[in-house]
Amino acid sequence: MGLLKDRRILLGVTGGIAAYKALYLARLLIKNGAIVRVVMTSAARRFIGELSFEAISSHKVLTDNSESWANDLNHIGFAKWAELFIIAPASVNTINKIACGVADNLLLQTFIACDAPKLIAGAANSAMIENAITKQNIEKLTAIGVNFVKSGYGALACGDEGIGRLAKAETIFYEACRALHKNVFWQARTAIVTCGGTREPIDDVRAIGNLSSGKTAIGFAKAAFFLGAKVYTIGNVKDEFLPTRHIEADSACQMKEALDRVIAQNGDTKSYLFMAAAVGDWAAANKIDGKMKKEEVGATWNLSLRQNMDILSAIDKQNLYVVGFKAEIDPQNAYASAIKMKNNKRLDAVCLNVIGDIARFGGDETKITLIAKSESEFIGDKLSVAYNILRTLEKESA
Ligand code: CTP
Repeated sequence: MGLLKDRRILLGVTGGIAAYKALYLARLLIKNGAIVRVVMTSAARRFIGELSFEAISSHKVLTDNSESWANDLNHIGFAKWAELFIIAPASVNTINKIACGVADNLLLQTFIACDAPKLIAGAANSAMIENAITKQNIEKLTAIGVNFVKSGYGALACGDEGIGRLAKAETIFYEACRALHKNVFWQARTAIVTCGGTREPIDDVRAIGNLSSGKTAIGFAKAAFFLGAKVYTIGNVKDEFLPTRHIEADSACQMKEALDRVIAQNGDTKSYLFMAAAVGDWAAANKIDGKMKKEEVGATWNLSLRQNMDILSAIDKQNLYVVGFKAEIDPQNAYASAIKMKNNKRLDAVCLNVIGDIARFGGDETKITLIAKSESEFIGDKLSVAYNILRTLEKESA
């Protein structure tokens, strides 16, 4: 999915050792279709040359040296051009100056002249980023609609360990997608996505699992995040860069417990549940404590299985819009089976996916028939399909 196709993103780079990481971010944005222009402070140019950004963005970089009024290579031209202004890395000096409306360099002048959405990813020593002045200024800017990408924890260039590392480029990229795709409908909603295939323990080291890769679920989590929803992921698969609230759950029982908690917390808003996890239908009838020795079992092991609880049937659906997922192998009976599940489990919608040429376990492409108020078929990469299904559900709710 060309998530950022032809979107005009202005990348501001300030002075700091993390300045080189902005190159990878620029690359990532461009790879996903964005047109990127770069503005750099003089301090940033002490860490990294503008030629690198020029080579990656195929565009002249705006600096004190390059500003021109013969074309739009100036702070007003860049400010008007941008659909999104990202500063990464943003030094503490820049964050605090922005909060005070200071415009004493080209990047700050561009920032104050620009009325596009803003995204700031700070990077500094933890004492500087956690200083009360910086914190207050971040709060102040957040209150007027500037979005911040939280700095990460880890070893800092100065030798300290703490908060202050520039967020991963992938996370900043995801936040950029959210800034450009979010809409009023999804911003007011919570999306709960169950991910991966559950594993049911046989003993303390072995488990019964299934072939689900969790890629479809991650597609739904990303799409909901980009559209602006508050997203919870529950399961044993996650995208480590996607800033959702993740609850680890391996077995059906753990998934049900986590789901009950999240539903209870979000019971006052209309939430959407995408039950994309492949919940194991069978669990060991008697889980063995410790590790079963081969000699004790012999050449074959006749396990006794019991049917697992059906989570979708059991959860409280009062304030939920519930989407079930049906994966079938037999194309003849797939549709009837999906309708039966929708009725039996009292679901609002079903995503039916017939495993075959396009939809394979672990594949990146899928084909889903959405059975909701209306019925439609979606084919493509798992993220595009999820995105289009969310937009369809949004339109149906009107
Ligand atoms: N599901 C669930 N709890 C289970 C099994 C499935 O909540 N114990 C959910 C899945 O997450 C999915 C949907 O129910 O959203 C699939 O339901 P169903 O078709 O009953 O599961 P299958 O295992 O595909 O059923 P069958 O094996 O009978 O084809």
